[in-house]
Parts: sequence; structure tokens; C-alpha cells
Amino acid sequence: MPTQTKIERLSTGVPEIDEMISGGIPRGFFVAVTGEPGTGKTILCIHFMAEGMRVRDLCIYVTTEESRQSILNQASQFGIDFGKGIEDGKVIVIDSLMGTDEQWSLKSLDMEELVNKIIEAKKTLGYGRARVCIDSLSAFWLDRPAMARRYSYFIKKVLAKWDFTVFTTSQYAITTSDAFGFGVEHIADGIIRFRRAVRNGMLRRYLLIEKMRQTPHSLNLHEISICDGKGIVVLGPVQERKEDFGLPRRVTERIIESQKEKESELP
Ligand SMILES: Nc1ncnc2c1ncn2[C@@H]1O[C@H](COP(=O)(O)OP(=O)(O)OP(=O)(O)O)[C@@H](O)[C@H]1O
Ligand SMILES: [Mg+2]
Repeated sequence: MPTQTKIERLSTGVPEIDEMISGGIPRGFFVAVTGEPGTGKTILCIHFMAEGMRVRDLCIYVTTEESRQSILNQASQFGIDFGKGIEDGKVIVIDSLMGTDEQWSLKSLDMEELVNKIIEAKKTLGYGRARVCIDSLSAFWLDRPAMARRYSYFIKKVLAKWDFTVFTTSQYAITTSDAFGFGVEHIADGIIRFRRAVRNGMLRRYLLIEKMRQTPHSLNLHEISICDGKGIVVLGPVQERKEDFGLPRRVTERIIESQKEKESELP
């Protein structure tokens, strides 16, 4: 039997999530962080960056739906000071919401502009292991959903050359739940899937490792909590049926069919 290559893994910043994936994300992976609104995607990205700062990785955060200030404020609620990382030249937050003229701003949601800006940020930060969060990547294909896969492939390919370990968030429509499996998910090396449900009148959040290449990982759905001052806390594994989250099968199938039709119409 060939000897197994030892894989270098990066902590996500949430110890219980690291445990679910044999210690962390393999270096250089392109990981999709997916889920409905308000489920914890941005907060997981913040943990991933904060851990990067702690271990002196270079960190690049692209924010499309919130301003840079909003990300800084959110992080500060969990005791994370990105401002310090920015001052020390270890962190760059690229803001594509405000559309200003300053250096670390994207004027439009254009894929090439995004990639060029990330590379410019890496050159500015200098030599060393780097983490990138793109929050969210799906914002770049909002008006062209059928391009999701092509865009995802393009960005993964370019960033791979730069030795980045990437977290990229993408949203799931509330109405269609898990029907959008045609974009980033197939291209990603890993999928961390957030979910939500209302149980006995309470909003509950869950996390499932749906994919992590080269990794024996947990197959259990875990309930999580987002706590002030702390961030994501994993409460433990739960038993839920898929039907508890998804739409009736017939509806899901129709959505999938219409997605496929749209893709096949592409040149
Ligand atoms: N300081 C805090 N204390 C407790 N809960 C908080 C705190 N800050 C945020 N939250 C919770 O986290 C949620 C937001 O999580 P997050 O921003 O990670 O969602 P998301 O998955 O990125 O959503 P979207 O797709 O809309 O961007 C809030 O709706 C709130 O419930
Ligand atoms: Mg978010």
C-alpha cells in the first residue's frame, strides 16, 4: 500500500468544526459555505479569518452584501479586532458594497475585477500562507444564475495558482431550499452547509459537512448556536429527516428541471 501523504490542514477557527473534518481544511482547498440567510455563513468566515490572524496567515476578505464596517462591527462582537490586522498589514477587507474609489473597493460585481483585486491584495500583503473569504460569491451571478458553475470554475482555477485556501459563501433561496446544486457545489473541494428550521416556535440552526475531499468527516447534522461575545458554538449532533427542511419532492424536481433547461440554453 502506498504511504499516505500527510495533509496540512488549516483550522476553521471553530474547534468543534475542525473535529468534524479531521482537524481542519486541507491547505489550498476551495470550500463552499452554503445556506439560507442568517444561518451563520458570514460568521464562520469571520472565525476563519480570525484564526488566520492568530496563526499569522495573510487574510483577504471580500464582502459584497455588507460594508467593510459592518464586517468589522460583527467581528468585534465576538472579540475579534480586524482593525488591528489591517493596521499591521496582515488583513485586507475588499468592499464591493460601497463602490467607492478607494484602493480596496470593487466598483462592480465583475469576476475578473474580483480576481485581479484579490491578487493585488496578496501582492500587497506579501509572501506567506494566505486565506481568502469571498462573501458571497453567488452575488456575482445573481443576474445570470446559469453562469454559476462556469464562474466558480474560473475563480477556483485562478486562485489555485496562488496557494490560497478559500472560503466562498453562496446563498440558498428560502423558497427552493436545497435545489441549487448546479453552481459552486460540484467545483468546490468541500461544502459546509448551514440550515435552519423553526422548532416549537424557535429558530434553530444546523451545520452539516456535505463534502470534504481527502477527509474522513462527520456525516452527522449538528445543531449550532450563535452566541454574543463568542460566535458559532456547536451544540451537538441531531437526527432530522431531509423532508423537515426541503420542499415536497415534486416541487424540487420541477425546479431542478428548469435549472437544467437554463444551463442547456447557454452557448
Ligand atoms: N452578537 C450576536 N449575538 C448573537 N447572535 C448574533 C450576533 N450577531 C449576529 N448574530 C446572529 O447571526 C445572524 C447572522 O449570521 P450571518 O451573518 O453569519 O448569516 P449569513 O448566513 O451570512 O446570512 P446572509 O446570507 O443573509 O448573509 C443574525 O441574524 C443573528 O441571529
Ligand atoms: Mg452573510
